[in-house]
Amino acid sequence: MVDKAVMERIESELSKYMDSEVEFLLKIGNYILSSGGKRLRPVLVLTFSKLLKGENEDRDYPLAVALEYLHTASLLHDDVVDGADSRRGRPSANRIFGNDTVVLTGDYMYANALYLFSIYGDIDMIKNVSDSVKKMAEGQLLELKKIGDLDITYEEYFKILEGKTAVLFGSCCYVGTALGGGSQEQKESAYRYGLNIGLAFQLIDDYLDYASTEEKLGKPVCNDLREGKITYPLLSVMDSLTEEEKQLVKKVIRDLNPKKEDIEAVKSIVEQKGGMTKTIEKSRQLVNNAVSELENFPDNEYLKKLEELAKFIVEREF
Ligand code: IPE
Ligand code: IPE
Ligand code: MG
Ligand code: MG
Ligand code: MG
Repeated sequence: MVDKAVMERIESELSKYMDSEVEFLLKIGNYILSSGGKRLRPVLVLTFSKLLKGENEDRDYPLAVALEYLHTASLLHDDVVDGADSRRGRPSANRIFGNDTVVLTGDYMYANALYLFSIYGDIDMIKNVSDSVKKMAEGQLLELKKIGDLDITYEEYFKILEGKTAVLFGSCCYVGTALGGGSQEQKESAYRYGLNIGLAFQLIDDYLDYASTEEKLGKPVCNDLREGKITYPLLSVMDSLTEEEKQLVKKVIRDLNPKKEDIEAVKSIVEQKGGMTKTIEKSRQLVNNAVSELENFPDNEYLKKLEELAKFIVEREF
């Protein structure tokens, strides 16, 4: 979907701007950066920029990778918060290096990204991106607050998704459009495209947590339930549960170490009641909202790529 040359340039720029004198920091940073990942965020920046100006300029790259640093920092912190053992098919950085060092490396990456914005970006981009970084922390915190809460509402669930995942996608598209010389209306429209694909993306991530395997995803599955988190597949069937089923769900999400068979039982209830299908449907709807924002942009090959990318989000298996 994306040129090999572009992907290679992203990789080389990602290592170029990790230039701390502290070797341990580089070791942890490189451990996660070299483990792959889809690089969706820099691709979005570069594609929106090209959509408007035809070619990427040198300046586009440090900002594209700055957004990947923000994402990487959020993954480092997320695995500490979620107590995850694996990421991108390897033991997670926290398992290898410990929570303390990983949290600090994440802090360094956040700061490094904002530093790159101060050099290569402008104040309007900095405002948009730093607002997203604040919302990411808020989203993760709100999620923690809702752990074990059977009464979580759709509104609260989507607020969490918007914060922890979608606003960063929004910022990638906003910054790309700004780099392409887009108007204020186009920047806002690109932001909404990003927000909608970001929500769809997290819905599918939540779906895959139920439906996929650790082998395919390279990270733990059923972790959300185990952690006491009610996500869309379960939320969407909550009203149709019998009293007995509700008690089982309560037991699983409140237990710090739920039994495997209880998790499996909740999974099969969710499946039977249509929670998986409902999640895919909701995600499709959000992708359609995203695609409709593209009407505000010139119709060229890059627009097609953004349409494809939005659709890939629902169809993806990893
Ligand atoms: C994982 O993001 C975290 C979420 C927002 C769900 P990605 O699935 O984009 O992770 P990588 O970068 O490809 O590993
Ligand atoms: C994504 O939520 C949060 C981030 C923005 C990192 P998850 O906790 O579901 O992400 P994964 O599943 O661990 O990648
Ligand atoms: Mg996680
Ligand atoms: Mg998490
Ligand atoms: Mg997840």
